[in-house]
Amino acid sequence: MRVDLLAGATYNPAVMPSPVPTILVFDSGLGGLTVFSEVLKVRPDARYVYAADDAGFPYGRLSEAVLAERVVTVMERLIGLHDPDLVVVACNTASTVVLPHLRERFSIPFVGTVPAIKPAAQTTQTGYVTVLATPGTVARDYTRDLIEAYAAGCKVNLVGSRRLAGIAEAELAGSPVPDEELVAEMQPCFVQDEGGRTDVVALACTHYPLLLPRLQALAPWPVTWIDPAPAIARRVTQLIGQPVPGHEADENETMAVFTSGAGISAALRGALQDKGLPVVAVEDMPLLVG
Ligand code: DGL
Repeated sequence: MRVDLLAGATYNPAVMPSPVPTILVFDSGLGGLTVFSEVLKVRPDARYVYAADDAGFPYGRLSEAVLAERVVTVMERLIGLHDPDLVVVACNTASTVVLPHLRERFSIPFVGTVPAIKPAAQTTQTGYVTVLATPGTVARDYTRDLIEAYAAGCKVNLVGSRRLAGIAEAELAGSPVPDEELVAEMQPCFVQDEGGRTDVVALACTHYPLLLPRLQALAPWPVTWIDPAPAIARRVTQLIGQPVPGHEADENETMAVFTSGAGISAALRGALQDKGLPVVAVEDMPLLVG
């Protein structure tokens, strides 16, 4: 693993045993940062590894079998290296397929991220709910089952966007796309007919909240956007408890790991630092199939 420190940062992987947990937050790319930020708020004392499997990005294009194998393989390596007490799979596309595989293979707890269909159904006034996700998540039986279980009385509009996760990555890396491109991707979310119109959009890909201010500004009418990250953070504290009193997080013990050797832009480096991730490492794990 190549560890690359920003000025002043000192990462020492051979730390003394600590009373605070190590939490691994995992995604295909930068979307999981939206979950990381919320988890950090509820467990500011913890040690974090944020892992982006950017060699596999975007997961939305991978078959279920390839994705399951990929995530288990990468997780094997990450767990071996960082020995986390808990893993947050901050990716709907992965969680809707791989959680059973991960729980079978490893004994530590996994918190998944799945489409917030139940809260969306509880929030809507018009009954018109949109679930905005990757094509992979939209195609999952898991997603259909959630709709059947929790939103049977709603008109559910499933929108699978091919480009939005990449657009969110570009935004954070300092290359935002023009409004027209974003509008084209979000347009199918807004449904209107004689019965009513969409009033809730569930952001069922962790990348999408990175674009929330722009989505809100460009929406043809106001809707409630549901970001599941705060609920995921609550689940983390249910499993590992509240912060250990008297322990301050040392952000230099917290690191971001990328699986491709592609390198990151200065803008992204700045964004990671702003989010509390000054240490960036590369753990090369090329995706061999896909
Ligand atoms: N962030 C991921 C999710 O929540 C998906 C992005 C991708 O296609 O890799 O679904």
